[in-house]
Amino acid sequence: MSEKAILEIDGEKYEFPVLRGSENEIAIDIKSLRSATNGIITLDSGFKNTGSCESKITFLDGEKGILRHRGYAIEDLTKKANFLEVAYLIIFGELPTKVQMKTFENDIKKESMVNEEMKDIIDGFPKVAHPMGILSSLTSALTAFDPETVDVTSEEEMYNAIVKLMGKFPVLAAWAHSKTQGLPLNYADNSFNYIENIMHMMFKIPTEKYKMNPIAVKALDELLILHEDHEQNCSTSTVRIAGSSEASLFASVSAGVSALWGSLHGGANQAVLEMLKDIRNDGGNVEKFIARAKDKNDPFRLMGFGHRVYKNFDPRARIIKQAADDLFEDLGTTDPVLAIAKHLEEVALKDKYFAERKLYPNVDFYSGIIYRALGFPVEMFTVMFAIGRLPGWIAQWREMRLNHEPIGRPRQLYTGYSLRDFKNFDER
Ligand code: ACO
Repeated sequence: MSEKAILEIDGEKYEFPVLRGSENEIAIDIKSLRSATNGIITLDSGFKNTGSCESKITFLDGEKGILRHRGYAIEDLTKKANFLEVAYLIIFGELPTKVQMKTFENDIKKESMVNEEMKDIIDGFPKVAHPMGILSSLTSALTAFDPETVDVTSEEEMYNAIVKLMGKFPVLAAWAHSKTQGLPLNYADNSFNYIENIMHMMFKIPTEKYKMNPIAVKALDELLILHEDHEQNCSTSTVRIAGSSEASLFASVSAGVSALWGSLHGGANQAVLEMLKDIRNDGGNVEKFIARAKDKNDPFRLMGFGHRVYKNFDPRARIIKQAADDLFEDLGTTDPVLAIAKHLEEVALKDKYFAERKLYPNVDFYSGIIYRALGFPVEMFTVMFAIGRLPGWIAQWREMRLNHEPIGRPRQLYTGYSLRDFKNFDER
């Protein structure tokens, strides 16, 4: 028997179907709410209780700290697969065979050139521009150089758009970095793999041969896998909603880059490192900053703590903490900021305020420390997150288009003035 939810408004009862996901999550299908009730809507600011779509890509359970892509545990994927392999899985639904993997990788490599005229756009940015702003603009600009809209009924056209973006996006990200550093713009070297090329394009300077560090490549590969998808987060929802108007893949992903930029989302990794440096410059008094985070009159929040969905722990944070330890051990170095981060985490986790609100370190808490060890300046941290998240944005855009989802257009509860008489200037 099918399950139903009953809503009673002013003595009138309305029935709505109850849907169950493959992990037994329950959703009330309110599609018919407005028509059945003559215009009543639900109000849920921040969408804390609202599912915007059905999706087969990522499952996460915030209470149990579970994250899986297409059924595979994140812990397995980070240890057993590489970034592009997970990207293929997330986008197309299955782990690639060896042949599919090779083809995907080669097709992406073939697309790693960017129209030279893009450099004119970069020239227009001041050197102080934030690389996320540059990346968002350049991603959108790709549309100008490839104005054909993708026929979503054609597997081939969809595939071509996907490999194009996968190939060009890291180049644009590296160019955003080079621009802000005053360095020449590098192209990929197709004898390297995807992750090696990111390091190469970011750090190769004309006067020296770039020496690839396999430890750094391994750490970056693992870190970027952890960022690949995270179901309907702010930037992904942005990509889906922009794409639902039939905006191109490039334009939709550009919107996602902008959404990721904010300090409550991907921008948190930059904010964490700045906070840790502030604590260090202030003499390392962790307790003082914890007290500030708890003070409701102080807008300061402990960056890298808390998550909309994870209310137990963020499984990615656990893996990243270990990855940071491994990296420093492999490199034979250390970072005083890591010690502050660990101390801060220890103190916060013992504190009633954080325990009661189920605030735990999130993915951003340790990622910046790794990026810093790899040589990325703080402003590039969120750009690196964007490179990691790209396959997720693409997968979610593809799924949304293939499902022929309607244009995203929420309703509102109007709380402004009722009709007023217009006032001339002398009456105002
Ligand atoms: N420091 C101090 N207090 C916090 C923090 C924090 N980092 N996060 C939440 N709280 C408190 C809030 O003040 C609130 O307290 P109250 O109930 O006494 O009013 C309570 O915890 C619940 O917080 P909300 O903001 O309602 O939780 P929400 O789910 O809306 O926000 C968010 C989640 C935005 C991630 C929040 O925890 C935050 O601002 N964290 C810091 C920024 C950050 O690290 N963002 C990265 C998220 S992960 C990612 O995007 C990849």
